[in-house]
Amino acid sequence: MPAPSSTASAFLPVVPRLRSLRNSITLAANPIPVLDTYLNTYGDTIVVYLGGIRRTVLTRDPGLVQHMLQKNHRNYPKSDLSHGVARYLGHGLLTSEGSYWLRQRRLIQPGFHRQRIAGLVALMQTEINDCLEPLERQLAKQGGFVEVAVHALMITTAFRIIARSVFSNSLAERQLHRMAELLTAIQAFYVRTVRQPYLRPWQHARGQFRRHDQLAAELRDIVRGYIRQRKEASGPVPDDLLQMLLDARYEDNGEPMTEEQVLDEAAILLVAGHETSANALSWMWYLLAQHPEVVTKLRTEITQVLGDRPATFADLPGLGYSLQVIQETMRLYPPAWILDRVAQEDDTYNGLALPKGTLISGYLYGIHHSAKLWDEPEAFRPERFGPDQVRQQVPYAYIPFGGGPRLCIGNQFALTEMQLVLLEMLRRFDVEWVEQPAIDLMPLITLRPRQEIKVRFRRHKA
Ligand code: HEM
Repeated sequence: MPAPSSTASAFLPVVPRLRSLRNSITLAANPIPVLDTYLNTYGDTIVVYLGGIRRTVLTRDPGLVQHMLQKNHRNYPKSDLSHGVARYLGHGLLTSEGSYWLRQRRLIQPGFHRQRIAGLVALMQTEINDCLEPLERQLAKQGGFVEVAVHALMITTAFRIIARSVFSNSLAERQLHRMAELLTAIQAFYVRTVRQPYLRPWQHARGQFRRHDQLAAELRDIVRGYIRQRKEASGPVPDDLLQMLLDARYEDNGEPMTEEQVLDEAAILLVAGHETSANALSWMWYLLAQHPEVVTKLRTEITQVLGDRPATFADLPGLGYSLQVIQETMRLYPPAWILDRVAQEDDTYNGLALPKGTLISGYLYGIHHSAKLWDEPEAFRPERFGPDQVRQQVPYAYIPFGGGPRLCIGNQFALTEMQLVLLEMLRRFDVEWVEQPAIDLMPLITLRPRQEIKVRFRRHKA
């Protein structure tokens, strides 16, 4: 039996602290199976100790998640688990709070308007073409098929798309690679500090915090360099996200952001818009390679709408099934698999007491896989996202982009880019499964595949 809790959330089952501690090594490697076991054993909302130390309410109840993200969002700012990233990445939209966040969100939101995204499509297409060039060359040389490390390819593609969307062509190739390396190193370290808090003294002693501060400073220097270059440049200005940040003016005083603010926001866009899309795309190929019947349906739609020409932005709404494939992929593999919030004041939800200071972890992965919310939750079925089926979904049963006022600002950007990658790759290639052991989950800040995913591509003959 679960131990009773000693605080006001006394009605919640608590995973005994010792058990959490004992599991913390397994939890550090992949928390998902451990958390699923806890929830299946004790109920949809429970108390666990992260790393055996940090008490959190863990929930896969969509109602509670909606309560904290939307209905009573004012009481639930992000916790220090999210804010801690600000040490390395600054105070951009993702890491700021309260009136500062709101002012920034209002300033930046128009930059993600549909029309602005449409303006970035040509740039996205160029990057997709460039990333597919090596595959084309290999196919031309050897004929037949190529076996591709698809996660590596999607990481490169998504990073190039976001980096070019922020900086256009001003970004040198060498710097693009270095930025990707720095971001990966910083994120991996940050996750270790959160998941294994007991290692902190050792990490301090070994100078790891200092080392990662230096990496973050290097990243900021690179970004700062491009901001200055852009401000000093003459001639036509590119229509990219950096220019959008530089041109934006606050409603109240007509002033632009300071250089440090632009830097913070640009860095956050790079982080938020990189791994999330790359992981979703990688899992999508993993699923499609195993589901030829879905690919056949996709091809029917593509033939009807596009024939054999590349997609334009205006085509995308007419390619609904391709969007459903992406939506279903993100149900099974939500790139942001958990979200944290903390109660600012005492609150209750459905009779459950949530005292001031309670840390709540909204377990998106658990919600998306809940048998109470989804019929055969482990099955890959894009048809679930057909217009009629969507209307029957329970509110907050599907929230890959979060919800409420802090809904992902880049959601349209991400869906557009993912649809373009899917459509362009299928226009050129047939996709086939390569026999390989099942791919494990690696949930860091985003949900990565632990092993590389291999997929075989052949030239598609229309
Ligand atoms: C498949 C791709 C993506 C997924 C699944 C995703 C998911 C999310 C989620 C769940 C949040 C809310 C976090 C929370 O409430 O704690 C979020 C916020 C955010 N995302 Fe995304 N994201 C994706 C792509 C992007 C892209 C491409 C960009 C930028 C171009 C972006 C920029 C942001 C920003 C700036 C925030 C913070 C918004 C705010 O708090 O006002 N994301 N994202």
